[in-house]
Amino acid sequence: MTDIAFVLNGTPVRVTNQPATRTLLDWLREDRRLTGTKEGCNEGDCGACTVMVTDRHGTRALNACILFLAQLDGKAVHTVEGLTAPDGSPHPVQQAMIDHHGSQCGFCTPGFIAMMAVNHLNNETDHDTALAGNLCRCTGYAPIDRAARAAARYPVPDWLRQATDPSFILPQILRGESRISATGGSAPHPFIPRSADDLAQWYAANPDATLIAGATDVGLWVTKSLRSLCPVAFIAGLDDLRGVNVSDTEIRIGATTTLADLHRAIAAYHPSFSELIRRYGSAQVRAAATIGGNIANGSPIGDSPPALIALGATLHLRQGDSRRSLPLEDFFIAYGQQDRAPGEFVEAVSFSRQPDRLRCYKISKRFDQDISALCGCFNVTVADGIVTEARIAFGGMAGTPKRALAVELELLGNPWTLDTIKAAMAAFAEDFQPIGDMRASAAYRLQIAQNLLERYFLQDQGIATDVLAVAP
Ligand SMILES: Cc1cc2nc3c(=O)[nH]c(=O)nc-3n(C[C@H](O)[C@H](O)[C@H](O)COP(=O)(O)OP(=O)(O)OC[C@H]3O[C@@H](n4cnc5c(N)ncnc54)[C@H](O)[C@@H]3O)c2cc1C
Ligand code: FES
Ligand code: FES
Repeated sequence: MTDIAFVLNGTPVRVTNQPATRTLLDWLREDRRLTGTKEGCNEGDCGACTVMVTDRHGTRALNACILFLAQLDGKAVHTVEGLTAPDGSPHPVQQAMIDHHGSQCGFCTPGFIAMMAVNHLNNETDHDTALAGNLCRCTGYAPIDRAARAAARYPVPDWLRQATDPSFILPQILRGESRISATGGSAPHPFIPRSADDLAQWYAANPDATLIAGATDVGLWVTKSLRSLCPVAFIAGLDDLRGVNVSDTEIRIGATTTLADLHRAIAAYHPSFSELIRRYGSAQVRAAATIGGNIANGSPIGDSPPALIALGATLHLRQGDSRRSLPLEDFFIAYGQQDRAPGEFVEAVSFSRQPDRLRCYKISKRFDQDISALCGCFNVTVADGIVTEARIAFGGMAGTPKRALAVELELLGNPWTLDTIKAAMAAFAEDFQPIGDMRASAAYRLQIAQNLLERYFLQDQGIATDVLAVAP
């Protein structure tokens, strides 16, 4: 059971005796009757439940349907009801949606308003990317896009600027309510560690517990699979596991780094990896999902593992006071099986600084907000026209993210020419025997993987291959 404090639409609230995995959406609608925040899909896909969440790292938009109450401890939430000024005047994005006819049935509108208000606050102007996680079935996106651009001409209201200033929020929580420590009578309660050391000690003693980071997977276990999770630890707030550290020799990504933060931080070093992450879920999902969760869940279609394996990444695990590191590719043993002991958690993933030769290709039915049918990542080094190193990894081609070792062997030591590429393409059938499913047939997967190698080569020769670049 929870005992947490946060600021809701400007008012400090304390939430006690709620199940640790009750979602913010259910609590808002059922207990607070704040029904502006809508339930569409209840799995992070439609954005109807978008709310504005502020903490010491800034303000972001999150999907309330896969956001557990305990994740809000010490933060501030604005729902659509809390975006109107205290004097009743509408927020600039609300006014712009009226002026530009951005709403018809209105079901999606509160989610759009919350998302647009966050973008307005953060001066985000790439509306296509920022709004890709908000679905509208009737208005069409052009008027909404016009409204977002029109609102950008107006300043952030002073009252909202203050209400989303972390130095203003935290004292409010402290003043209004004594700040949490997860407790709750005799009922099992969530553990909210203060440091990685804290987590290591607790998890070693509670190895059957579920760790919850961004909850973009675990949220669905609760809302869709109706699983009861107990005990749980909420780890997304662990700042000592968060961040991208770049030294002269390596880049190290802490486990609780969000995909949104990684997208920004990695752009200067491996832009194709950054671009891959831009197509990962939606802005709301990227703002919550962590790299540790994306690796630890062991999904064969997770997008970051193939890129990291192609970069030669090392995974860093911790259990109590002992630590070990292993090549990331060795972590994935078989479908649903990873090399992780009970009570062991992901601390970080790292890879060497290297010239950027990485290209990542995500193939999915939709461009935005879709899970990969397959994801191919290529990192081939050529010296004096000869292939000297090759690391190629795929998601969606096997039960785990997996290297294309036979293809790599075909390339190594050979001239970097189209003839070599054509010869190597056949080796994909040795590396992979993909399955067919609703995302793609087995034959399609194999054919596309082969074509992606050619695409990598052509791109390396300066030929445009990106669909956005070659489309008329
Ligand atoms: C709408 C939607 C779209 C999505 N789109 C994509 C996509 O395009 N590409 C993609 O790859 N994924 C996608 N996902 C899946 C999901 O976002 C990722 O797998 C995500 O990275 C999980 O991270 P998280 O922090 O949310 O993990 P959580 O849900 O908190 O946890 C996931 C698993 O990892 C474990 N875990 C978390 N952190 C650690 C740690 N440090 N050590 C050990 N175990 C840990 C948890 O116990 C759990 O088993 C999508 C999900 C949704 C809901
Ligand atoms: S209800 Fe669809 S994203 Fe939350
Ligand atoms: S206005 Fe009806 S779904 Fe968007």
